Amino acid sequence: MSFMLLKGLHVACAVVSYTLFFLRGIWSFTGSPVMRKRWIKVVPHVVDTLLLVAAIALAFAIHQYPFVDAWLTAKVLGVLLYIWLGFVALKYGKTRTIRIVAWLAAQAVFAYIVLVAVHQNALPFGG
Ligand code: HEM
Repeated sequence: MSFMLLKGLHVACAVVSYTLFFLRGIWSFTGSPVMRKRWIKVVPHVVDTLLLVAAIALAFAIHQYPFVDAWLTAKVLGVLLYIWLGFVALKYGKTRTIRIVAWLAAQAVFAYIVLVAVHQNALPFGG
């Protein structure tokens, strides 16, 4: 698969992953029956797995790796934080407030990951 196709797949999965996470938060907080549908339990996992498989292939393609190159280390740590906050937001958060705060924080982390990706810099906020 060509590099641009792989990157297109990675970015497309990132967009779908974010959209589904955003919607699942809304559906979960409003008690929507969509959250009990089978597809909503399966599709996000498929998309997130594809996102990460494409990420690993991209890293090999450009010979840059997490725990070697800081921006990719930042992305991996960001993804771990995003996953943990996602669990709190959609599953384990004990109160509604904790879940909503975790949902918002996960989106801030996601935005950070995108900024890191675009600037290829672990500290993409200026300079
Ligand atoms: C939620 C998780 C992730 C999101 C939202 C995300 C987002 C993006 C975006 C938007 C780009 C395109 C940047 C651009 O060309 O301007 C990109 C490229 C890339 N990402 Fe990710 N990414 C994620 C996870 C990861 C992880 C965990 C890795 C580490 C293995 C990774 C490795 C890469 C690589 C190697 C590129 C290609 C850079 C290049 O064009 O040379 N990504 N990512």
